[in-house]
Amino acid sequence: MPTILVTGGAGYIGSHTRYFLEKQGYSVLVVDNLGRGYREAVPPAILHTLDLRETDKLTSLLEKHHVDAVIHFAAYIAVGESTKNPLLYFENNVGGSLSLLEAMARAGVKRVVFSSTAAAYGTPARVPIVEDEPYAPINPYGESKVIVERMLEWLDRYQEFRSIRLRYFNACGAEPDAGLGERHEPETHLIPLILRAIQTGSPVTLFGDDYPTEDGTCIRDYIHVSDLAEAHVFAVEHLLKGGASNVFNVGTGSGHSVKEVVASVERVTGKKVPFTMGPRREGDPASLVADSSKLQTTLGWKPNRADLDRIVSDAWKFAQSLA
Ligand code: UFG
Repeated sequence: MPTILVTGGAGYIGSHTRYFLEKQGYSVLVVDNLGRGYREAVPPAILHTLDLRETDKLTSLLEKHHVDAVIHFAAYIAVGESTKNPLLYFENNVGGSLSLLEAMARAGVKRVVFSSTAAAYGTPARVPIVEDEPYAPINPYGESKVIVERMLEWLDRYQEFRSIRLRYFNACGAEPDAGLGERHEPETHLIPLILRAIQTGSPVTLFGDDYPTEDGTCIRDYIHVSDLAEAHVFAVEHLLKGGASNVFNVGTGSGHSVKEVVASVERVTGKKVPFTMGPRREGDPASLVADSSKLQTTLGWKPNRADLDRIVSDAWKFAQSLA
């Protein structure tokens, strides 16, 4: 079986993807600097604690292990933090990717699956969003992903570097039986914050109920992290078979409002969610829903765990295991 290097494999989506790759029989190596990831999310034997900017060491690793393809997650992901410290995001997300691509070029590894984001679209003109919606990020985090997407497009054109860029919508849920789930410090994402509010009794703030949506709260496309992980397995298989570069949205195609998420958490946990209604958070578009039919028809992927209560139930099991 081919050997895959996963960068950021100690993080949320990276750790789940590593798990599904191994289930399919791939030989996997994880590179993570453990700055924001969790050591316990990676089997010790395959963890290489390294920063992506250590280009020489990365090159040696790629060569020594005869890596066939890379799945690149390692990046900072907090939109708010990126607006306070844009250079940190360019340095880490763009600088890290540049070094990784340099190491790959030196080692002759020319296949990469890249972790991109719906934030590449900013506030889209059309929802559900299709991939030909133009790049229009509205924060440095989104811009840092767009810059790398563009680098990959040029490498495809002039260096025969094949890449699949996956633009994620709202990753959530967990694989609790594998001991994997969502852990960010500080946490900014809706579902873990709601679950934490239930566990601690201290209310979560909901950001705005005056949006032009049915119940006034924002609509997002919540995609189970295991469905997202499986999309990476399909993507890397495509590249390993000699497939062409492409870009795909990864979402379910269904939107849920913040209030619907609260209702789902109450159904699943049987507990009342303590919350307060706050003002809008800056930079939140009213509705972001993926049209992911291109991924479904091109690679044969489909979301198998799209039911919101299923997502919340898996997240709840993981949150309880941490408590
Ligand atoms: N929300 C709240 N209260 C909170 C946190 C979030 O009401 O305490 C709301 C937000 O306003 C939004 C929804 O819950 O309407 C989801 O917010 P998240 O912060 O969980 O997720 P985002 O949609 O803001 O962000 C996600 C990814 C980002 C990515 C972005 C792309 O986490 O990495 O989608 O648009 F950049």
